[in-house]
Amino acid sequence: MKISIKISENLISRIYSGPQVFGEINKFLWNFCGKPSGVYLLVDENTHRFCLPKLLNEVPCLEKAEIIVTPSGEQNKDIRHVVQIWGKLMKMGAIRHSLLVNLGGGMITDLGGFAAATFKRGIPFIHIPTTLMGMTDAAIGGKTGVNIDLVKNQAGVYSNPEAVFIHPGFLETLKPDQMMSGLAEMIKYALILDAPLWKKFLKMDFRTLRDLQKEDPQWDDLICRLVKMKARVVSADYRENKYRRILNFGHTAGHALESFSISDGNK
Ligand code: GLY
Repeated sequence: MKISIKISENLISRIYSGPQVFGEINKFLWNFCGKPSGVYLLVDENTHRFCLPKLLNEVPCLEKAEIIVTPSGEQNKDIRHVVQIWGKLMKMGAIRHSLLVNLGGGMITDLGGFAAATFKRGIPFIHIPTTLMGMTDAAIGGKTGVNIDLVKNQAGVYSNPEAVFIHPGFLETLKPDQMMSGLAEMIKYALILDAPLWKKFLKMDFRTLRDLQKEDPQWDDLICRLVKMKARVVSADYRENKYRRILNFGHTAGHALESFSISDGNK
C-alpha cells in the first residue's frame, strides 16, 4: 500500500507498507546504487544483527552500502552520536547526493534523520522502521532530533525522508516489551483519533494481541490504519502549530517517566 502525506504544494512524503515493500525499496534504490555518490546504512547493534541480514537478502544492491553502527538505546540518542555519524560519513567519502538508509526503531530514525538533515546541509535519506512504534509513529511525519541531558527531543529539525518503507516482517525481531510499547502507542492513537478502533481495542484481550503471530496479516492492516491516521494529522499541520499537538497526548508524563528511568538506569 502507498500512502502520501502532502506537506506543501511541492513536497509530498511517500510511505510504502506491506509484505511487498522490499520490491519498492529495490525500485527506489535503482537510482542510487551504483552511483559514485553512494549509499550509507545506519543501524544499531540490534538491527545490525537481527534486521540487516533480512534486508540484504531481499535488497541485494545494499550489499555495496557502507555500514555505520551506532549504539542502541534512547540514552545514546544525543549530539555526540550525531557527530560520530557525521565523522564516519565524511571519512567514508559521503557527498551531498549520497543516501542515508536508517534501519531501526524510533531512536535510529530520529538520530539518523537528524544526522542526514544536517550533514552538508542535508543529504537524502529513507527510513526502514523495524519496531511497531517506529512503523506507526516515529518514522512518519518528518520529525528528527536528539535528546539533551536525557531530556527527550530537545534539538532537531523537521526534515522529510525521501520515502518510508514499512515491512511488518521486521516485527519478528522484537522482544515482548518492545511490542508492548508499540501497542501502547496504537491504543493512544485509537483513543484520540479512531473511536471504532478504540471500541474494538476495549473488547480485546491485549495478551492475545501481543501474542498474535508477528506475520499475521492483522498487523499489516493495523499498521496501515495508524499510518493513514498520522498522515491525516501531519498533512493538516506539519509544523505542529496546533492540530498535530494532539499526538503529544500523554507525552508530558510519558517522556518525564522515560527520562527518569533512563537516568536512573545510568546510575
Ligand atoms: N510523535 C508525535 C509527532 O510525530 O508529532
